[in-house]
Amino acid sequence: MAAMQMRPNIVDHSHQVCRVAEFLADALMDAGVPLDRRLVTAAALLHDITKTRSLDTGENHAATGASYLADLGYRRVGEVVRQHVALDRYDRIGYPQEAEVVNYADKRVLHDVITELDPRMAYIRERYGTTSAHLERIAALWQATKALERRLFAHLPFTPRELADAMTADS
Ligand SMILES: [Fe+2]
Repeated sequence: MAAMQMRPNIVDHSHQVCRVAEFLADALMDAGVPLDRRLVTAAALLHDITKTRSLDTGENHAATGASYLADLGYRRVGEVVRQHVALDRYDRIGYPQEAEVVNYADKRVLHDVITELDPRMAYIRERYGTTSAHLERIAALWQATKALERRLFAHLPFTPRELADAMTADS
């Protein structure tokens, strides 16, 4: 993070996404879902590793974050980072995977505050919905993320709304 001169607010966001992703991973693993927790932690912490640079360059930070990490030898972490904005697939069946946990956790953190899906997606629409093509893509992503939420929470003993309270109770 220091080497990439990440903005402090993006560092704070990354730490909060990591807390949410780890909490979800632990709860999923308690429910019998096999996950690589270290992969979840690393990818959640590093998901926006090239975001600060992208504000100047306009690069696709999910793609360049992945290649940056792959070049350092962390290909699997990069694969999860690459999918943090949009997953390769939203039609998976079977156990939830690390990329799904990190992607969803990022959609539950607005700046550094745990929020519900709708306000976070509304923020994404406000900030990135600059053309009708973008708006269409964001709407599709919103629906797909709602389905992802249902898929993850099918395994969990608390609801999406209860997530923040469940994390407080646990800490
Ligand atoms: Fe990001």
